[in-house]
Amino acid sequence: MSSNSHPSPTFPATRMRRNRAHPWMRRLVAETRLSVDDLIWPVFVVEGDGQRQPIPSMPGVDRLSIDVLTEEVAAAHDLGIPAVAVFPFIEPSLKTPDGREAFNPDGLVCRAVRALKLAVPDVGVICDVALDEFNSDGHDGIVRDGVILNDETLEVLCQQSVVQAEAGCDIIAPSDMMDGRIGAIRKALDDKGFDHVAIMSYAAKYASGYYGPFRDAVGSSGALTGDKKTYQMDTANTEEALREVAMDISEGADSVMVKPGLPYLDMVWRVKEAFGVPTFVYNVSGEYAMLKAAADQGWLDYDQVMMEALRSFKRAGADGILTYAARDAARILNAG
Ligand code: PBG
Repeated sequence: MSSNSHPSPTFPATRMRRNRAHPWMRRLVAETRLSVDDLIWPVFVVEGDGQRQPIPSMPGVDRLSIDVLTEEVAAAHDLGIPAVAVFPFIEPSLKTPDGREAFNPDGLVCRAVRALKLAVPDVGVICDVALDEFNSDGHDGIVRDGVILNDETLEVLCQQSVVQAEAGCDIIAPSDMMDGRIGAIRKALDDKGFDHVAIMSYAAKYASGYYGPFRDAVGSSGALTGDKKTYQMDTANTEEALREVAMDISEGADSVMVKPGLPYLDMVWRVKEAFGVPTFVYNVSGEYAMLKAAADQGWLDYDQVMMEALRSFKRAGADGILTYAARDAARILNAG
């Protein structure tokens, strides 16, 4: 009900502080609730055994080899986290201009997915679809003469999606921002009998500076030539994001995402309002790094500001949140 339909409350008949007076009262009147059910944990996987490689720009986040990853994801499952999003650190020697390692059925991502589905079958596995982790240019698409090719890239993204689905991936998450990718991938999956595999589209993905630490994590920072502004969205735009989302839904996206999170809460709100579809938000690497860096200086309380950030996504209408803080948040939520 809109507040305009009520007479304006006035003091002293109305004292807003009465509803804030006790912890139990605040619990009763809380308007939004963050739950472990809302969390998706992005993880970085690397070759080897027993590997736990710290990522300096993301304190507390490590690249994990598959054996360690399955243990950690089992622990995340015990905390109640419903799903993980897998990102690979590909050996530089395997990176080629065409990014063909992206559709190697025995590549790191596919092996990680198979191991996860075997070890922790009840955890949803989400795979990133884009070429930046696999090509020598660090771009999400195939580059020719400095141009990121759209339709040629679609073919590779379709092959990448199909091998991920074959490996057991539950949700294909294209983050590449090529035009027409959702429709092309939906068709490729359906043609191969993967009509049960869902698509979570990185629909409103901005050309953001907040992805820096992630590019360190997957080892694409050194490779990247130029920027991603010819395919990721201009940070000034909002209407354009709604058109992106509309197109992805019409092409068959089951859910959509806004990315980054905190600087784009307006878009989370508008997307959810306009379309009412499952709407996810990615609390990206730079957002995590900022909080960690300030907390490490003793300038902010990490638990408090992290939970405040996650709650802001729920206020804005997000159904779920991809966050590197998923385990920290789950522990806090489970402790009550
Ligand atoms: C790859 C991809 C990126 C992120 C998710 N998938 C990086 C990029 O687009 O450059 C960023 C995630 C983060 O910063 O946490 N296409």
